[in-house]
Amino acid sequence: MTERRTVRMVTNGPIMVEGPVRVEMPSGEVVESDRFMVALCACKRSKTFPLCDTSHRRRVRAG
Ligand code: FES
Repeated sequence: MTERRTVRMVTNGPIMVEGPVRVEMPSGEVVESDRFMVALCACKRSKTFPLCDTSHRRRVRAG
């Protein structure tokens, strides 16, 4: 029986995925992480996209 992986959506934050992971981007680029738990950016503000760099915590200036 195949063990199911847990993927956890964080409110206003990343998507937490049990690692290690291999992420295939639309461009064909492949990003790999060997971490036990990998945070994938869901806000698209990360400078290390598709990995979360905590940029989602920054407030966006109004006006
Ligand atoms: S979710 Fe963390 S930088 Fe985008």
